[in-house]
Amino acid sequence: MSTTATLATLSDSDLAADPNWWRQAAVYQIYPRSFADSNGDGLGDIKGITAKVPYLKELGIDAVWLSPFYPSALADGGYDVDDYRNVDPKLGTLADFDEMAKALHSAGIKLIADIVPNHSSNRHEWFQEALASPRGSAARDRYIFRDGLGENGDLPPSDWDSVFGGPAWERITEPDGTPGQWYLHIFAKEQPDLNWANREIRDDFLKTLRFWSDRGVDGFRVDVAHALTKDLTEPLLSKLELTEANSGTDGFDDGSHPFWDRDEVHDIYVEWREVFNEYNPPRTAVAEAWVHATRRARYASPEGLGQAFNFDLLQADFDAEEFREIITRNLAEAKQTGASSTWVFSNHDVVRHATRYGLPKAAKGPADKKLAKGQDGKAWLLAGGPKDELDVELGERRARAATLLMLAVPGSAYLYQGEELGLQEVADIPDSERQDPAFFRNKGVEVGRDGCRVPLPWKVEGASFGFGDGGAHLPQPDWFSKYAVEAQDGTNNSTLELYRKALKLRRELQAEEELEWIETGNPEVLHFSRPGGWQSVTNFGDTAVDLPAGTVLLTSDPLEDGKLPANSTVWLR
Ligand code: GLC
Repeated sequence: MSTTATLATLSDSDLAADPNWWRQAAVYQIYPRSFADSNGDGLGDIKGITAKVPYLKELGIDAVWLSPFYPSALADGGYDVDDYRNVDPKLGTLADFDEMAKALHSAGIKLIADIVPNHSSNRHEWFQEALASPRGSAARDRYIFRDGLGENGDLPPSDWDSVFGGPAWERITEPDGTPGQWYLHIFAKEQPDLNWANREIRDDFLKTLRFWSDRGVDGFRVDVAHALTKDLTEPLLSKLELTEANSGTDGFDDGSHPFWDRDEVHDIYVEWREVFNEYNPPRTAVAEAWVHATRRARYASPEGLGQAFNFDLLQADFDAEEFREIITRNLAEAKQTGASSTWVFSNHDVVRHATRYGLPKAAKGPADKKLAKGQDGKAWLLAGGPKDELDVELGERRARAATLLMLAVPGSAYLYQGEELGLQEVADIPDSERQDPAFFRNKGVEVGRDGCRVPLPWKVEGASFGFGDGGAHLPQPDWFSKYAVEAQDGTNNSTLELYRKALKLRRELQAEEELEWIETGNPEVLHFSRPGGWQSVTNFGDTAVDLPAGTVLLTSDPLEDGKLPANSTVWLR
């Protein structure tokens, strides 16, 4: 299943119609509220994105993935959706959306919309109707309502925790004012879980998929794709029973969890695929599914969503052996399913990789596999981001090296806004300014994800560093100035120029989805080639190494006396 023509040999109209456009696409994630603010209200918006289309084109990406832009009270940064078929008035209008889609398409950039099917917001008209309707009503059946335990029903139906901390059940007040039933929310209490056993929910989402596809959306990123179907047959297992029943080392590996990764979830995606295939080219989808590695491929099947995020590199340390194992395994898996692999280092949910890689490596204890999962930076954030533990320069060098390596591997590469600037995580956001429900619901355990969601710096100085004429909805530190687009644009060896060159070359060099490892005799150095003689070498070690034969195309940092320095990558041909 490899594309035979290279992207460079396809015209723009061929590309627009190419059903395989997604296989090796570089996809740039925009977190709309923090990208660019056109009206100075401190929140990024749709018009702000449209104004930056020339920037995106020059960057050289193939597609934009837009995080939720729907009407929302922002209890979870927009992942609490009030209306699936509209644009948040704080961000613009449907007409603004159409204009943005048109501008992106004219620039040869595809558009992927984030879709949030597991839960709506508590302000959604369905939930409001459920609150106003009696027990057992059709309106309640769109969500997951249960009577409480105990004599007066004042204990939750189970002791489950929500992902953001605190209980996963919330009690409501019945229309007559008495304490009432409980509803399930795997995430924040403002995000009630929808009941996917209800046909009306299924049909309504098919309508939503067509609504955006008709407006020119080329694909969908499916939020929490692994949670939609649930088996809540009573009695519900307790937390302890669930832990004991966990057969895998890294999550359930047999589909027996009451809500994560049940086999029936794929029936939903078979229906979605039928809708995707009504379009030409078919709409694409990528699953966000944090499941046991052995079960990820099911989400990526061509009869289902077609592609699934692989977060393995994101969870790895900057380590040659780990990188090689992950790449080898995932490429083999992709071959089996017919999907292409996906690669990602940063997104709106994790500490930026330029910061993670500047932190000491995680202790590798075989006793605790989770610990070995490494440089995730959460503990460092919780400690207030101690400066003496972070080596900013090292983090940025490694991030550039890792990204250049990733962009040479077959598959699609997902990039998160600001990483092309080498942007660091903001660790010192005052508690009073934090927005993430993970901070409020999980006090003292983690500080949440606001540090990677701070509005981008476009200019070296001025109001909110060019983000907009007003302020920024999360505080930008002074050091943002040196990362600004303006500071890096046209500057030799800047991270931005590196991304631009790499993305351009990647299009020219991209060939069949093959990779061949070349043994280096040095466990700290990874070397591979792609068809057509494109080679990538990464030095994970502490000392410079000799280059193999070939013409140097690009380096993540300048060579040292003709050698590849520590923590850097070179492309050759
Ligand atoms: C996904 C999103 C995350 C959100 C959660 C609940 O994991 O990436 O940002 O908080 O789903 O919708």
